[in-house]
Amino acid sequence: MAPREREVKKIWRDVDGYFGDLLAPSDEALDAALRANKKAGLPAIDVSRVQGKFLHLLARIAGARRILEIGTLGGYSTICFARALPTGGRIVTLEVDPRHAEVARENLRNAKVLGRVDLRMGRALDSLAKLAAKGAEPFDLIFIDADKENNPAYFEWALKLSRTGTVIVVDNVVRDGRVVEEKSRDAEVIGTRRMTEMIATEPRVSAAALQTVGTKGYDGFVMAVVVR
Ligand code: SAH
Ligand code: DHB
Ligand code: MG
Repeated sequence: MAPREREVKKIWRDVDGYFGDLLAPSDEALDAALRANKKAGLPAIDVSRVQGKFLHLLARIAGARRILEIGTLGGYSTICFARALPTGGRIVTLEVDPRHAEVARENLRNAKVLGRVDLRMGRALDSLAKLAAKGAEPFDLIFIDADKENNPAYFEWALKLSRTGTVIVVDNVVRDGRVVEEKSRDAEVIGTRRMTEMIATEPRVSAAALQTVGTKGYDGFVMAVVVR
């Protein structure tokens, strides 16, 4: 389902609004980022306000000093993560579309977090290989949110760039429930299913999945922790 036709029930939106207003209240930099994204014609496929706050909290729970994000878009989730970093912390975020990266850079600057962000342009698979070849220090939290057909490869890279205790989160794994379509020929569904099957047989991680509803429709996260 394209973002425009995504089903959002009124009750999901109302509940998201209720918790969002109380727990993740409107924020000038995040609102401005969404306006800039819209103005630049970027798709509105960022995480929601409450999801962004949830990711922010996860980073704090993990005590993350080094975060890796695959898929920047306009930097909405990047801002949420960057704000969770302690002094000296850093987020590396990977984006293939130069237009998205340009908008993100401005949004990050406006949110006053650009100094903590290392935005790398190019295909994520290339950037990941470069990071690993340069012997990058392991990341504490890794957020996978780019082209879903590459989720299996992204998860493998995430493992390579992790240490015991690293938290790995994957966005958009439910997709209105399409993830259970065994015979799906949708590359995104296939990618996420392959990744999940990989995780299931991977002794180095322990994982769960969480279905979500809200302003972004019906979707969910896979979350894993590296146990050895
Ligand atoms: N994390 C963002 C949303 C990311 S949307 C947020 O929540 O605010 C997915 C992004 O991944 C898009 O900007 C898209 O251009 C990017 N992307 C798609 N394929 C990619 C690839 N092969 N390498 C790097 N980025 C890619
Ligand atoms: C869509 C949503 C996302 O969060 C994403 O990363 C990619 C696509 C979508 O709704 O199409
Ligand atoms: Mg996403």
